[in-house]
Amino acid sequence: ERLPELLRRMPKAELHIHIEGSLEPELMFEMAQRNRVALPYASVDDLRRAYDFSNLQSFLDIYYAGAGVLITERDFFDMAWAYLQKARADHVLHTEIFFDPQTHTARGVSMETVVNGLHRACEQARAQLGVNASLILCFLRHLSEEDAFQTLEQAMPFRDRFIGVGLDSSEVGHPPEKFAKVFARCRELGLHLVAHAGEEGPPAYVWTALDVLKVERIDHGVQSSKDPALMKRLAQDRIPLTVCPLSNLKLCVFPRLQDHNLGQLLDAGLVATVNSDDPAYFGGYMNDNFLRTFEATGLTAAHAHRLAVNSFEASFIGAAEKRKYR
Ligand code: HPA
Ligand code: ZN
Repeated sequence: ERLPELLRRMPKAELHIHIEGSLEPELMFEMAQRNRVALPYASVDDLRRAYDFSNLQSFLDIYYAGAGVLITERDFFDMAWAYLQKARADHVLHTEIFFDPQTHTARGVSMETVVNGLHRACEQARAQLGVNASLILCFLRHLSEEDAFQTLEQAMPFRDRFIGVGLDSSEVGHPPEKFAKVFARCRELGLHLVAHAGEEGPPAYVWTALDVLKVERIDHGVQSSKDPALMKRLAQDRIPLTVCPLSNLKLCVFPRLQDHNLGQLLDAGLVATVNSDDPAYFGGYMNDNFLRTFEATGLTAAHAHRLAVNSFEASFIGAAEKRKYR
């Protein structure tokens, strides 16, 4: 079988997707119209032209502005449903979806509206698409730990509708340890723990995500290759990295896709995975990430198989379920 066909068709899990980052410009304009929200762009093309980023912050500014069109439960449902259909088309059997409630509650949209809309799409995906989808609540790290605690409090009535918590937004200057107390509380609650670290930030942030927050996975983590002791730790403890190659390219973490270190991480024995991050903004869903990265870096069918296996190993599905995907 040709490598592109193998990449397209192989069953896979997605573990790093921000649902707000799956909102395509066309749907964003539709929601802006039906909710009577003004967008600072004249057209879909005008908006797409703004997707020319120099770093993480230049993306986040536009991403948070775009999320301003999401008002009703139907909006959250429609956004997630559109993503889940793309996931099915890319042979994603299992997906763990990040959402950023603070982006919405700060605008007066209730936690209930956000969670119910997303949850309903996840339920429908299981029933109609055969895609297993769960939610992970992310705290925005540019906000305070107290704000994160309030968000956790607001989410507690919906505790059974998300499987874990994460940490995202502006990394540099907001190290993981800023959220030590709220992650300790989430751990007591039995939530799964993940955090973005080592996307733009230093290896030191990956260390504290592991040792202070006690996360089970690192989101991105590509800067880890600068620290041999950290590479050893990640390999020995089988800490997964949810790598997002097209995101790294668009946010200038690597100058060119052929410079990406995914192959280096895999060859060092790390449990690296491929994910889309914010597919509507970064130019591709799962299979686009696989195909373009393999094309640019010359990874092999053995790497493809390893990435598929890693994606299920790194997931939070139960041990019994997991054996089915091996
Ligand atoms: N990094 C940090 N925060 C984010 C990202 C990301 O890649 N995508 C959406 N929020
Ligand atoms: Zn991310």
